[in-house]
Amino acid sequence: MTTYTLRKGSPAKTRTDLVVIGVAKTSKGDLVACPGAEDVASEYGRKFKPMLSSMGFKGDTGEVLRVPTGGAIKAGQLLVVGLGQRESLTVERVRRAAGVAARNVGNAASVALALPAQDAEHVRAVADGFLLGSYSFKRYKSRSDETAVADVSILSDAARRQDAIAALDAAQAVADVVRQARDWVNTPPNDLTPELFADGVLAFAKKRAGRSKPKVEIEVLGPDELAELGCGGILGVGLGSANPPRLVKLTWAPEDARAKVAFVGKGITYDSGGLTIKPGSSMATMKYDMGGAAAVIAATFAIAALELPVSVTTYAPMAENMVSGSAMRPGDVLTMFNGKTVEVTNTDAEGRLILADAIAMAAEDSPDAIIDVATLTGPCIVALGEKVAGIFGDDETTAAVAAAAETSGEMLWRLPIPDETREAVRTESKVADVLQHNWVRWGSALFAAAFLEEFIGGRPWAHLDIAGPAWNTGGPWGHVPSGATGYSISTLVEYVAALAAGDDEPAEDVES
Ligand code: BES
Ligand code: MN
Ligand code: ZN
Repeated sequence: MTTYTLRKGSPAKTRTDLVVIGVAKTSKGDLVACPGAEDVASEYGRKFKPMLSSMGFKGDTGEVLRVPTGGAIKAGQLLVVGLGQRESLTVERVRRAAGVAARNVGNAASVALALPAQDAEHVRAVADGFLLGSYSFKRYKSRSDETAVADVSILSDAARRQDAIAALDAAQAVADVVRQARDWVNTPPNDLTPELFADGVLAFAKKRAGRSKPKVEIEVLGPDELAELGCGGILGVGLGSANPPRLVKLTWAPEDARAKVAFVGKGITYDSGGLTIKPGSSMATMKYDMGGAAAVIAATFAIAALELPVSVTTYAPMAENMVSGSAMRPGDVLTMFNGKTVEVTNTDAEGRLILADAIAMAAEDSPDAIIDVATLTGPCIVALGEKVAGIFGDDETTAAVAAAAETSGEMLWRLPIPDETREAVRTESKVADVLQHNWVRWGSALFAAAFLEEFIGGRPWAHLDIAGPAWNTGGPWGHVPSGATGYSISTLVEYVAALAAGDDEPAEDVES
């Protein structure tokens, strides 16, 4: 357990094992101490820059240097993190630098962060970065020599201001759930079947119940209940697996709710592709195909912990997409929750099938907006890369989510749903109401979005395709670890916080 405190104080005089400061560079390449680092720089005096330069430190983003202080300041060690070009320094860069710092504290038990934290927004960034950057997944490692930092102080002149204190609280509330979401996503698929995932959600809620009064209501539906409700998509995808599907429904319903939103997240605990089987190399990381479900569930718990006055109903359909004699076939026709029939042509396009039921169910209680989050298509990664999510939907809802992402620092980009694609979904099946997949190589992320749109019942809607950013195949960067990232959680919380603050009126009611 690490304790975080926000306080005012000079980093040069703070008794702690390690002090973290930020150093940027000017366009001429000169090093400059960033806000928060002034006292440390002046204690070193004229020796400060030569000390950094002699070690080859350039002030680039992602760069770190850890040195013993030899008594130059009270702390034993100094960790310098690069903040890049000073002229273009952003809050997001501070967040990422704090994440880099978290991975480079060495054996320090107490750490004082003297990164730019002059106002609430920067306090939030420093806290986010350090909290999220210090995550690692060690559950299956027999031996681990890492020791966690016991005390982290965030040094800030704004330490006594209410908004700064609230910023640290919010950062901790979000980081708590991001850790859990990352754990779920990193957990191997033999230990996270639909049943075990649903159990995990119940256990997480129970563990938190004592600590925070706000209640998230949880309902878990099994195959029999899903059959009764007519969830042909969730059941169809689950047919090939020995581990039957689930639907987890979470409800946060505060009395003073100012708006009502629904979240839906794709919870494929493993995606082999089904009979339209994936090549081996594409299958290896397919445990992360439940990253959307983990994200919306996590966000709901954080929203409740922060007691945001917005109703949230979250639907997480969970299924395992496998191959067997009982598996769904290309050619099958499924009847979805809203009564629409779907011709399946590709069992590897399974995400849209489980989402269709859950989105239609969400639409039934007429929420002000439906936001779905899914590791939906490889083609979206082809279009936008591994770090940027695709966002689809109506102008207002996508704009509100994009504004939230701007604040949280998560990267996303709007993609269109052309009328021609809608037309293809609606007319190209010879047997059913809609076609699941058309085997056209181009624009498949758009086709998937157009398919989902068939189930939103005319509600305001945004769809996030997080196939890329949900998982980091490379090494850690900023506050993002290798493997599960927790992408979209902080954006979803921010989106709801903005609704709660009335920054953004929910979209006008659209009748279906
Ligand atoms: N879970 C995959 C999407 C995916 C691919 C996520 C790579 C993360 C990394 C999804 O179910 C799928 O298989 N999609 C197909 C889409 C195609 C049928 C249009 C794909 O990516 O090939
Ligand atoms: Mn698939
Ligand atoms: Zn999938």
